[in-house]
Amino acid sequence: MRQLAITTYGMHILRKKTKPVKDIDDSVINLVRDMFYTMDKASGIGLAAPQVNLEVSLAVIDLSGIEEHKGDKPLVLINPEVIDSHGLVTMEEGCLSIPDVRAEVERPEEIHLRFYDFDMNEVDLELKGFKARVAMHEIDHLNGKLFIDYLSEDIKKLIKKDLQLIKKGKVETDYPLLIHSETA
Ligand code: NI
Repeated sequence: MRQLAITTYGMHILRKKTKPVKDIDDSVINLVRDMFYTMDKASGIGLAAPQVNLEVSLAVIDLSGIEEHKGDKPLVLINPEVIDSHGLVTMEEGCLSIPDVRAEVERPEEIHLRFYDFDMNEVDLELKGFKARVAMHEIDHLNGKLFIDYLSEDIKKLIKKDLQLIKKGKVETDYPLLIHSETA
């Protein structure tokens, strides 16, 4: 398994809509393994393919490190879509691609999710609470959307400086990063 560098705010790949996974070959299996490993090393709970610089519709989630979710099985979401949603709830969010920036984001409380499993069977799943939130955050990544897009203009002003520093690579993390100025 390889620890992959994580793409950061400012990179074009984080703003692109990903392409669907067509079949599960060795490269996809290895990618999923590397993504779980990379996420774990970065103490993340969700990671989407654009965050490891790949334009494919694939994300992984593992909440088992959180006390209340200890028994939760990790999820691999292939070509996921939110079909339906209910309720609204506000909670603080962060993102491995936007280090040290956290803000409150309003999202649906429950979602009906459709995705493909490792046998390319369609799976329908109802998720609620924190798990639903993490799934929506990751699915947003697959559509070129970031949690900061939901913030009010006032809050955006407050974090503007932090975002500019991230863009310049002036941020410290305990996991490897890819930064805009190195790739532009
Ligand atoms: Ni994120």
